[in-house]
Amino acid sequence: MLKKCLFPVAGYGTRFLPATKAMPKEMLPLVNKPLVQYGVEEAIEAGLTEIGFVTGRGKRAIEDHFDTNFELEQQIAGTGKERYLDCVRQVIDSASFSYTRQGEMRGLGDAILQGQRLIGDEAFAVVLADDLCLNEEVGVLGQMVQLYKQFRCSIVAVEEVPKEQIHKFGVIAGNEIKPDLFQVTDMVEKPSAEDAPSNMAIIGRYILTPDIFDLIRETPPGKNGEVQITDALLTQAKRGCVLAYRFKGRRFDCGSVDGFIEATNHVYKNIYLPGEKG
Ligand code: G1P
Repeated sequence: MLKKCLFPVAGYGTRFLPATKAMPKEMLPLVNKPLVQYGVEEAIEAGLTEIGFVTGRGKRAIEDHFDTNFELEQQIAGTGKERYLDCVRQVIDSASFSYTRQGEMRGLGDAILQGQRLIGDEAFAVVLADDLCLNEEVGVLGQMVQLYKQFRCSIVAVEEVPKEQIHKFGVIAGNEIKPDLFQVTDMVEKPSAEDAPSNMAIIGRYILTPDIFDLIRETPPGKNGEVQITDALLTQAKRGCVLAYRFKGRRFDCGSVDGFIEATNHVYKNIYLPGEKG
């Protein structure tokens, strides 16, 4: 059913310069694993094993990461160091990886539209790797896939955020149709606190039905002169149905330095150290 997951990764990562001058921001490590790998693992766990990246200039390290490195593997074969590669090997063996480029940075909506070449005419998920989502039981995408099976329409992940932060997000308004699930009635990209229709912010996890591609084509540039997926989704919500799901789990904003450090400390204490000791 749902098999494909798209990762828009063309952004520059200016907030992390100079670290991101010659390295994709998605390859910044949270302890010993690049940020993007956490997102890919979440997708695979949700059963989405066809991974597509919408990349740009300077992003080749991502392709190399999800590929075999024969020289390195031969060097460490048969030594105690082999185990360090186990977790990425597992990822490589469980999924396929495809790439396409976004030639010009025209916004998230446009990046997703470029991904149509990899997706075709079927429903798919989108992960913004900057948002690290962790949950001890089923991951956030896994939770959304369950909902998609039931409702068969586009779904966005949402979280309540403080008023002072609402301007950083797409924001929804909706009617709660069952606990934690809303039918979207309005959606605004990065509104001011006064104009925000609620305190429910869109987090970087989406399931989209393929009619979204035509809707994006119809969508004029919006906030910051960019083609916004939020605007295309609002059209979809008005013509049919879009759901917003208040997910179970914890989200870290790894697109900001503070969030990245918080995530690093969390991963070190709760995932890395227990793994090393076990
Ligand atoms: C994008 C989306 C926004 C969403 C956010 C989640 O914004 O445009 O609607 O709330 O991701 O992280 P960005 O953070 O890429 O500017």
